[in-house]
Amino acid sequence: GQARKLQAMLESAVDAIITIDGKGIITTVNPAAARLFGYPQDAFIGQNVHFLMPEPYHSAHDGYIANYRATGARKIIGIGREVTGRRRDGTTFPMHLAVSEFEMDGRVHFTGIIHDLSSQKATEQALRQAQ
Ligand code: HEM
Repeated sequence: GQARKLQAMLESAVDAIITIDGKGIITTVNPAAARLFGYPQDAFIGQNVHFLMPEPYHSAHDGYIANYRATGARKIIGIGREVTGRRRDGTTFPMHLAVSEFEMDGRVHFTGIIHDLSSQKATEQALRQAQ
């Protein structure tokens, strides 16, 4: 059925997919996210999504969400942005972030799709140096 297909898509996706509630608390995560950030999947659930980012984003992220919910001004939703993520070992990496919003049972949720840009950036750098 539909639910099993959705589950299989989430499990097999190359990109990291994370959903949060309206306060930034992680409610679902896929295996690609676990591989990318270096935590087991169950370590994400119930954490604030800001644990996956370095400063200044880490301290500011609750405010970003609150600001969006208060004003409706979209800075990333429907636009996307290149930002910096932080792995479990403390190293940081470039990533493209796409965010969308949905409502379920009268509550707002957000889905983030994260594409790791580290190898693309390394290739670009190598090409520049070869010129
Ligand atoms: C907004 C950074 C992950 C949900 C933002 C903004 C930044 C940011 C810079 C815009 C601030 C502004 O200009 O006002 C990051 C970084 C992440 C990350 C560095 C690295 C892990 C996520 C994920 C989700 C998410 C995984 C969702 C599951 C949101 C929401 C907003 C937001 C809902 C407000 C809406 C908007 O600005 O359009 N984030 N974010 N973020 N982020 Fe994140």
